[in-house]
Amino acid sequence: MTTAPTARKGAVGTARIRVEGRDKVTGAARYAAEVPFAGLAHGWLVSSTVARGRIRSLETDAVLALPGVLTVLHHGNAPRVDTGYIGLLGVPPDPTCAVFQHDRVPSMGWPVALVVAETPEQAREAAEALVVHYEEEPYDIAFSGERPDAYPLDGHMPAVVEKGDLEAGLAASAVVVDAEYTTPEEHHNPMEPHAATARWDGGRLEVVDSNQGTTWVASELASLFSLDPASVRVRSEHVGGGFGSKGLRAHQVAAVMAATALRRPVRVVLTRRQMFSLAGYRSPTAQRVRLGADADGRLRALEHRSLSLTSTVYEFIEPSAATARVMYDADAHHTANRVVRLDVPTPSWMRAPGEAPGSFALEAALDELAEKCGIDPIELRVRNEPERGPVSGLPFSGRHLLACFREGARRFGWADRDPRPGVRRDGRWLLGTGTAAASFPVMARPSTAAVTAEADGTFTVRISAADIGTGARTALTQVAADALETGPDRVRVRIGDSDFGPAMIAGGSMGTRSWAWAITAAAAALRERLAPGTDVPPQGITVRSDTTAAVDALPPKERHSFGAQFAEVAVDAGTGEVRVRRMLGVFAAGRIVNPLTARNQFVGGMTWGISMALHEEAVRDRASGGHYGADLAGYHVATHADVPHIEADWIDDPAPDPDDPVGINGIGEIGVVGAAAAVANAVWHATGVRHRSLPIRPDRVIRAGTSTGERHA
Ligand code: MOS
Repeated sequence: MTTAPTARKGAVGTARIRVEGRDKVTGAARYAAEVPFAGLAHGWLVSSTVARGRIRSLETDAVLALPGVLTVLHHGNAPRVDTGYIGLLGVPPDPTCAVFQHDRVPSMGWPVALVVAETPEQAREAAEALVVHYEEEPYDIAFSGERPDAYPLDGHMPAVVEKGDLEAGLAASAVVVDAEYTTPEEHHNPMEPHAATARWDGGRLEVVDSNQGTTWVASELASLFSLDPASVRVRSEHVGGGFGSKGLRAHQVAAVMAATALRRPVRVVLTRRQMFSLAGYRSPTAQRVRLGADADGRLRALEHRSLSLTSTVYEFIEPSAATARVMYDADAHHTANRVVRLDVPTPSWMRAPGEAPGSFALEAALDELAEKCGIDPIELRVRNEPERGPVSGLPFSGRHLLACFREGARRFGWADRDPRPGVRRDGRWLLGTGTAAASFPVMARPSTAAVTAEADGTFTVRISAADIGTGARTALTQVAADALETGPDRVRVRIGDSDFGPAMIAGGSMGTRSWAWAITAAAAALRERLAPGTDVPPQGITVRSDTTAAVDALPPKERHSFGAQFAEVAVDAGTGEVRVRRMLGVFAAGRIVNPLTARNQFVGGMTWGISMALHEEAVRDRASGGHYGADLAGYHVATHADVPHIEADWIDDPAPDPDDPVGINGIGEIGVVGAAAAVANAVWHATGVRHRSLPIRPDRVIRAGTSTGERHA
């Protein structure tokens, strides 16, 4: 027997702790608000206390006389900025970020002034003392599925896609599900609040920030302030969570204005409460799903209509109806994303924007269809597995949904499930299990990277990537090591600095994929330069890459990750308590770079799903237009006691697409997709009652009771 030569064992695919892990646990890693600056001044934002109206006047004189106060910026004295541009991500800036440009107040919590003082305490005291007089106007914050002023909005995909005759398809169907689902306003709540420090340094604007993309924020600031892009530098070394909320926000712009006015560094940090108004959020949704199927469960007609809200100053759409365009085919297939403008802050991207609420409605409706047809929910999905993109007609680069269900069903013990609802008990608890499908698009955006061969035999990678807690820095170290055919200990990856050149943001689950592509390209070019015997000079040899042409050359296909979610719940119909007992997610997401950090991402997303199903809900007070309990006491997120045994794993999906040179899909968002539906479907299986409004709160469970009429005594 001959032995093949031992191949170098690659770093990709091996579990590695975070390269910056020691720095983080010892406190050596500095977050944006912790970076020291000489002569630092502190800004505190003042938020409107009315939901709509005009600022009549601000009593700034009294505040300027307070100890330590340096200035008060507001619409009467702040510099004008330019909002007439389209940003790097292809959208205009949200005017909420272009602070202090006019006297109008379009929502509660709108930034009306910045008080700058020597210390944060002085700034806060003065900000709270600032009296602002408003001319109040009536406001409208009433979101519901019945809004006559709703209209279709495209966003980054068409709002309305219609194929075939929907009403005819429904009429010809043996079984019809017609149901409305709602999800509430939800907030990102990253652990680290938004924070930025701005200063002018030798003619350059430097901003130390916590964000999901330094070149993105730098280019937005350059556009707003009409600066040469080369004269703006944004750094963001460590980020304590983002989830879509950390792009350009009011605090960076306010900090730049103040640093410019005072000619000294100014830091602005958002409070947790301010984040509820100034950091974006997930819009509530009202969704209607109509499914028509033959008796064997094959879909003839599918309709998914979703309504979300946006502010009066900016159009943002939560495209919840779009997942159906990928998941299930039907001769008649209608999907529509609509929006209504209300007197509220602008919503924004939040982990799986569209897919998270959309998959709740669609996957719960599929479960209702399975019940009506008397078919196992997994078998229903098997019967509706499309050959090609249901709407696009494009081939899938790989579609491993059923493989995820097969593996998940085996591990979860699905075969033993009694399909009847409301028949299992464990003392006071009714038990149930549920499942749902997940998918998330696999996309990439052009990025640049530089790789340097150092004279000491090590390598330095520079890319303006962002590690928002995901482990991206570690994953990129592994990718670079393999591309350079060296060990990860010989590679240092530097990220979070816009001076490293344009690169994709940490968003859309396409960060690691896009950055890995650029790093691999630069590493390959560098290895060609380093022919054996090449002398590396003291400054090293640097090669740069730009993947614009390669990314643009990807042939159009349906590219998605897939997953199967399973949940077991226990419901006490008397107290209304719902406890998730266990959860399993099995995913197909291309090459998994680092099993340790990847599992964190999947489990984190699934935990969000539990939280979405059972806990999270921001409620607006109709009497003020603002939130009740805009803090982590009033806004409930799943905490340790709510999160049981969660298992996340993946099936082998090593080469998702022959013409895809990276093979890495995104994993940051798919974990939340379908997770809330799996929990809700399990609650139905436990109680026999469908809960179509999230969160499934104890009061809702008590009011709904069970199919056997069990209620609190
Ligand atoms: Mo994410 S919502 O793509 O940051």
